[in-house]
Amino acid sequence: MSSPDRSIPDQPKTSGIARILISEDEILKVIRGMATDLDAEYQGDRPLVICVLRGAVTFMSDLVKAMSIPLEMDFMAISSYGSATKSSGVVRILKDLDEQIDGRRLIVVEDIVDSGLTLQYLLDHLGRRNPKDIRVVALVKKDKPDAIDVQVDHIGFVVPDEFVVGYGLDYAGQYRNLPFIGVLDPSVYTSREESEGVEEIDD
Ligand code: IMP
Ligand code: MG
Repeated sequence: MSSPDRSIPDQPKTSGIARILISEDEILKVIRGMATDLDAEYQGDRPLVICVLRGAVTFMSDLVKAMSIPLEMDFMAISSYGSATKSSGVVRILKDLDEQIDGRRLIVVEDIVDSGLTLQYLLDHLGRRNPKDIRVVALVKKDKPDAIDVQVDHIGFVVPDEFVVGYGLDYAGQYRNLPFIGVLDPSVYTSREESEGVEEIDD
């Protein structure tokens, strides 16, 4: 098999990308595998697939297209307090679900699990409304020894503890439209982190 193309396209949107970690082809291949697994797990059911805005939009869109079972989609928007690159686990719901979830099977689609605090908050919040069950699908999990032990049922990729962007993931609202996942050059955020401190950031 040929090795994945990790050359960074010379485009305005790739400015600040240090290297490509996961190519678009690799992402789509893994998503197709996840979709096959979910099809089998939810055979005969009609799960509610919940997208955590905004980072999970790109992933959710490719995932549901690759699934063959009937399903419904709903959206939540949350923000967490932290610096531009670290969440504190203090989460605020900006947009709640539109659907009732009592007795339903939920698939929570997350872009990235870092400390795990945001996901834990979300699972507690949803669990209080008596769904039949909840499973979590995350495209990326960071390899972080001090992360909390939160439920994640399907993980696409484990990445080193660096700040990554692309394929939905942002830094200060940018880079979401890269088709790959790349490592952000630390020089892009170190100067800003020092000057700005804690703020509220959208997921
Ligand atoms: P956690 O609460 O530390 O697990 O962080 C969760 C949220 O922080 C994610 O849903 C992302 O929005 C954001 N986040 C954490 N790490 C990264 C990263 O490397 N790149 C982009 N966003 C990140
Ligand atoms: Mg984010």
